[in-house]
Amino acid sequence: MVQRQIPKPRDLAPLMQFKKFDFNASRRRLSAALTIEDLRAIAKRRTPKAAFDYTDGAAEGELSLARARQAFEDVEFNPSILRDVSTVDTSTEIFGGPSALPFGIAPTGFTRLMHTEGEVAGAGAAGAAGIPFTLSTLGTTSIEEVKAANPHGRNWFQLYVMKDRQISYELTERASAAGFDTIFFTVDTPIAGARLRDKRNGFSIPPQLTINTILNAIPRPWWWYDFLTTPPLEFASLTSTGGTVGELLDKAMDPSINFEDLKTIRELFSGKLVVKGVQNVEDAKKLADLGVDGIVLSNHGGRQLDRAPVPFYLLPEVVREVGNDLEVTLDTGIMNGADIVASLALGAKFTYIGRAYLYGLMAGGRAGVDRTIEILTDQIVRTMKLLEVSEVGELEPKHVTQLRRLQPRSTAAVTAPH
Ligand SMILES: Cc1cc2nc3c(=O)[nH]c(=O)nc-3n(C[C@H](O)[C@H](O)[C@H](O)COP(=O)(O)O)c2cc1C
Repeated sequence: MVQRQIPKPRDLAPLMQFKKFDFNASRRRLSAALTIEDLRAIAKRRTPKAAFDYTDGAAEGELSLARARQAFEDVEFNPSILRDVSTVDTSTEIFGGPSALPFGIAPTGFTRLMHTEGEVAGAGAAGAAGIPFTLSTLGTTSIEEVKAANPHGRNWFQLYVMKDRQISYELTERASAAGFDTIFFTVDTPIAGARLRDKRNGFSIPPQLTINTILNAIPRPWWWYDFLTTPPLEFASLTSTGGTVGELLDKAMDPSINFEDLKTIRELFSGKLVVKGVQNVEDAKKLADLGVDGIVLSNHGGRQLDRAPVPFYLLPEVVREVGNDLEVTLDTGIMNGADIVASLALGAKFTYIGRAYLYGLMAGGRAGVDRTIEILTDQIVRTMKLLEVSEVGELEPKHVTQLRRLQPRSTAAVTAPH
């Protein structure tokens, strides 16, 4: 028999300690977000559909992105036991400098479209967290303004080699003069991928007012208020505007870029040279022979060639082949600190977040990016402790099993005579 009693008011008081109400709605929203998916949901409510879809979407059927995220979900962790993990060190070295966390902010174009604070929020948050920030050639904040937003931290510049080579070379020199220590040379964009959501939304830069955009703006007044009361949205480094994102990219990109361009950039820039968008072992080997400092295994977040290889699956073989010659890093699909831990365990020296950063930015500007970094940091620290690993360098392949749904059928079987 359970014994019962009548509760006394004295016993109830300690149970009724309600949390103090935070009158700052933005802070309330952000602190209630526990995952990057939560930030994405806030971002979706607060950003016009065309801008949200431009960020959230990928190319064609969006299969590359879905597969990359699935690959991370299919990680099985193998923890050790009974090791002292009372403190965890998440810091690491990458491209000749420190980073407090094993991830940095990937380059993204049109960032002030997502939120008016744009790259200034990203660079400021990265500086505060002690991680690198990468500015895109298609950024909406200048090289010098990024430097001002993150004066003591590490800034990197992502370079598209354009039809007018001179523009690219001048940007490289400007980045070098502003103390940017690393250049990402993006090579997966000979032409723009087919971002079907943008076409369906009639998305263009600058945004056009149509009946649909106006209807969509009604529940999102703050975005429009910011948009209309701050300097016009344009590329900080390029003069070309007008048209869909694909049209703009196609105007700027040069499908004829090749390994010769890599050599020119190498000669122009004395910092670290990293090639972004490597998608097979042979290219990785070739780049190692050419003496580049690092590569980013990436399919551009699934925004270019759809059905491209999943970078996380490429990782172990690439690390085996070139891991001693250059620094192998990775992006595409990272939505959780555990994805980062799994990548490090399989040999990635470093990782980058694209959308995870932008979801935070759209959810709450600078404070939103801070929240993204905080969420990922918590997840990294928790995952490391539960794996019983106290330093990034202790993570090893034995900690991760990649459960694979997709197994390639060997090409030999396809071409063999009947
Ligand atoms: C909205 C958006 C714009 C991007 N713009 C660029 C760019 O200008 N240059 C570039 O090299 N990569 C660009 N990327 C790709 C990112 O640098 C990165 O490779 C990708 O976002 C990683 O995938 P994730 O979004 O799943 O983290 C962009 C990605 C997004 C989402």
